[in-house]
Amino acid sequence: MDIYQQYFLDQRRWKMSKEIELDLHFTNRCNLKCDHCLYSSGEDIGEVPVDILNEMITEFATIGANTVHIGGGEPLTRYEDLKSFVHSSSLAGVKPRLITNGLLLTEDKLLELMDYGLEELLVSLDGTERFHNNFRRNNHAYEKAVSALKLGLEHNIFTRVNSVLTSENGEDIKDLLEYTTQLPVSVHAILCLSAMGRGKDIRYLVPEFEYVGNFIEDVQDLCDKHQFSDTKIQIQKGYLEPKIDKTHDYCRISKKNNALIYSTGHVFPCVRFSNYGSPYHEAFSLGNILEDSIIDIWSPDNEKWDLYKRNLERKSDCADELCQGGCRGLMLSETDNIDACDYRCTYEKTGKLPSCIRKYVVINDPYK
Ligand SMILES: C[S@@+](CC[C@H](N)C(=O)[O-])C[C@H]1O[C@@H](n2cnc3c(N)ncnc32)[C@H](O)[C@@H]1O
Ligand code: SF4
Ligand code: SF4
Repeated sequence: MDIYQQYFLDQRRWKMSKEIELDLHFTNRCNLKCDHCLYSSGEDIGEVPVDILNEMITEFATIGANTVHIGGGEPLTRYEDLKSFVHSSSLAGVKPRLITNGLLLTEDKLLELMDYGLEELLVSLDGTERFHNNFRRNNHAYEKAVSALKLGLEHNIFTRVNSVLTSENGEDIKDLLEYTTQLPVSVHAILCLSAMGRGKDIRYLVPEFEYVGNFIEDVQDLCDKHQFSDTKIQIQKGYLEPKIDKTHDYCRISKKNNALIYSTGHVFPCVRFSNYGSPYHEAFSLGNILEDSIIDIWSPDNEKWDLYKRNLERKSDCADELCQGGCRGLMLSETDNIDACDYRCTYEKTGKLPSCIRKYVVINDPYK
C-alpha cells in the first residue's frame, strides 16, 4: 500500500470509532510516589464523581467502548467507587481491567471485585525485588505486588504483569520474566519508560532504540531456551525499521480506538496529549465529561478533533517518510512544538525511526 492509499484508509477510519479501549485515570491519589510516574501521581487533584463515570461508561459502550483500564493513581485508594464502576462497566458490556501496584489488594477485595465483574488483574512489577522497591520508593512494594499476582492466579482471574523498561533494568526484567513465566501469569507486557510526568526528571533512563532492540533479541533467545509456553510476552518497540516494518506507522489517533479520561474529566485520544499541569491539558482536551456527554465529545462532529486531524497530513523532510515525523504528542510535551520532528530518530546511524508507543512485538503468544 503506498503512502496515499494509506492516507485515504486513515481518512475513512477517522469517521469510525469501534472497539475503543478506554484508559481511565480513576484518581490521581496514590499510596506510592514512584520516580517514573507519568501522571506524577500522589496528590488528589480532583476526581469525577462515580455516578458520572457510571453514566459515561454506559453511554460510551453504545458507540464502541469495549474495554476499560481502570488505573490512576492507585484505583484501590477509591475502593467503594471502584466496586460501583466495575459493576457498571461489566453491565454495559465493557470489559473492566484493574491496573494496580498491588499494595492494597486483599483476597476479600479481589473476590468482591470479581463478583462485580472484574475480568483482568494487571499488576506493575518493574524488575526483581531490589530494583522494583527502589524505583517505587517502598521496601514492601515487590512483596505486595507478587502477593497480588498470586491471589489473582489462585482465583483464576486473567493476570498481567506490566514492567517499565529503562536503560538500567533490562537484565533485571529478564530475570523477572523467568519468574513470571513460571507462575505463570497470562501476559507479561514490557513498556518503555516515557519522559512524561515525573518520568521527565529521569529522561536519561529512557532506553535507546539500540538497547530495546538488543533486549528484544535477548528475550527471544530466553524464550527459545526455556520454551515459555503459557505466558504471552509483548514488548513495546517504540521504533520501526523501514527494511522490516513494511507498513507506514502513522499516529494511531487516526484510528480513534483509544481514549484517555483524566481525573479532571478531560478526554484525550492519547495519553501523550494529556500534559496535566500545563496549558496543553485544557487546550488539547476534546471535552470534559463533567460538562458534556462522552457521545458528544467523541463524535466526529466535535470540532476539537481538528486539533488532531493534522496528524494525518504530516510530512517529514527526511529521506524516509515511514514515520511521518514521529510522535507529535511527545514533541508537544517535550519541545512545545507539535510540528517538531521526533528527536528520538536514529535513522542515519542505525536505520531505526521513532514510532507510536502503541507498537508492540509479541515474542510468545499461547492465545493465538
Ligand atoms: C500510572 S500506573 C497506575 C496504576 C498503578 N498505580 C500502578 O502503578 O500499577 C499505570 C502503569 O503505568 C506505568 N508507568 C508509570 N509511569 C510511566 C512512564 N513514565 N512510562 C511508562 N510507563 C509508566 C506504571 O508502571 C504502571 O504499570
Ligand atoms: S506508577 Fe502507579 S504506583 Fe507509582 S506513583 Fe504512579 S500511579 Fe502511583
Ligand atoms: S504517535 Fe504519539 S500521539 Fe500518536 S497515538 Fe502514538 S503515542 Fe499517541
